Amino acid sequence: MSALDVSVFPSDFAWGAATAAYQIEGGWNLDGKGPSIWDTFCHAKGQVFEDQTGEVACNSYQLWEKDLKCIQQLGLTHYRLSISWSRLLPDGTTNHVNPKGVAYYNKVINDLITCDVTTMVTLYHFDLPQALQDRGGWNSAEIADIFESYARFCFKTFGDRVKLWITLNEPYVCAKLGHEDGIIAPGIKEPGISAYVAAHNMVRAHTKAWHSYNADFRPLQGGQISLALNSDWTEPLDPGCPKDVAATERYKAFTLGWFAWPLFCTGDYPESMRSRIEAKSLELGYNQGSRLPHFSKNEPSPLGTADFFALNYYTSRKVKDWNSACKNSELSFKCDQGAEGVVDPSWPICGVHWLAVVPDGLRKLLKHIKDTYTNLPIYITENGFSQMGPVQIEDVDRCHFYHDTLQEVCKAISQDGVNVKGYFAWSLMDNFEWIHGFSVRFGLFHVDFATPELKRTIYRSGREYAAVISKHRTETKSKNVEDILSRNV
Ligand code: BGC
Repeated sequence: MSALDVSVFPSDFAWGAATAAYQIEGGWNLDGKGPSIWDTFCHAKGQVFEDQTGEVACNSYQLWEKDLKCIQQLGLTHYRLSISWSRLLPDGTTNHVNPKGVAYYNKVINDLITCDVTTMVTLYHFDLPQALQDRGGWNSAEIADIFESYARFCFKTFGDRVKLWITLNEPYVCAKLGHEDGIIAPGIKEPGISAYVAAHNMVRAHTKAWHSYNADFRPLQGGQISLALNSDWTEPLDPGCPKDVAATERYKAFTLGWFAWPLFCTGDYPESMRSRIEAKSLELGYNQGSRLPHFSKNEPSPLGTADFFALNYYTSRKVKDWNSACKNSELSFKCDQGAEGVVDPSWPICGVHWLAVVPDGLRKLLKHIKDTYTNLPIYITENGFSQMGPVQIEDVDRCHFYHDTLQEVCKAISQDGVNVKGYFAWSLMDNFEWIHGFSVRFGLFHVDFATPELKRTIYRSGREYAAVISKHRTETKSKNVEDILSRNV
């Protein structure tokens, strides 16, 4: 294994780890918190592995100091957390603020500052207040204004100290898995319809929050704000087959392009996505208007509403044409897309079935983003490796994974000229992995869920990540000293 050349990373590189409120906090009904759609989803039986829930999870609501120790032990420069919307605003609106929720996040943010760790805050990581779902959730147009009020509340309350904001985490996952497939909260299965509406309202919500920040908070607070987009790297299954090549382009348009085009390219969805959906609607005799909503001229445009590119990368896919596999009468996202992503048999799988380990896909994706979308700084806001089955504290495979991945990030910086500003490992510690409950472990720290203390123990991969960070810090410091000395000569 060749050594990692940490000198390639810029001196102010963000070394981070990420978590999300529902996955770690617990305290689901403590101190005035309102329920979220994930509380509801987990309480309905048969949706999550062994009917587990995030009621307690890592109990970070009460054990925050333990998390802080982990963050310090890793030597992180940055920590990405998410706010539980319904802990702060139990019914989702600013009509009722929960002071204990405000106090909790104030403590977390202040403690991080004391420890010299920069906080990146995600406003929404899948856990919509149930009260808002009862009003239609992401399928209701009013949600964009309600989200904007929530975002403004957070900017006003925490923005003097938080300078890196993510509005929404992975709108693709939320829309597709939550509103098309119905396999995550809120569990809506309305193929070919609901995901487009939910996604549209998410983009509108993000856009309004960005414009609010830009106009009313940035001048004083000086922070940056973006939207975290997940994307696989994709290539045609058979590069010599024109149908697979075209399917790969469609796959890209319907995943990353769905959100990146409005923000970085045109202010609208990819033209290929629009024309496919219109053509399919026509073919199927669907006549209730366009299934892919249009952006209104009376609202601010999404174009330009990202101060950096926030990328969650986990895996890659080979893409094949799916057109002929679609039944004539089928209304669905997949038939609109007409493409299927498959795992190359040569890729190892880690833990969960979907997670093929393809570190070099990250380098290719970073270059694709630079070439297609923007030269803005890129933060890799999530990337990780899961374990299932017997716990291995000496998690050698995960160590290799992080090593290989950081090598690819190095190459993206030094050979492809991509402006990568930071890397956040998913996750700081093992946590509630959505429908897989606690059966899948992504942490740099092991959490013993069998005991009430929920003891955190560093994995070998955590120790190795800490060593990389420390090496980079030391090299940066000595380089700074050299620079000062050479200036004085
Ligand atoms: C999500 C995380 C999740 C991770 C691993 C990402 O899609 O943002 O919440 O735990 O993937 O599945």
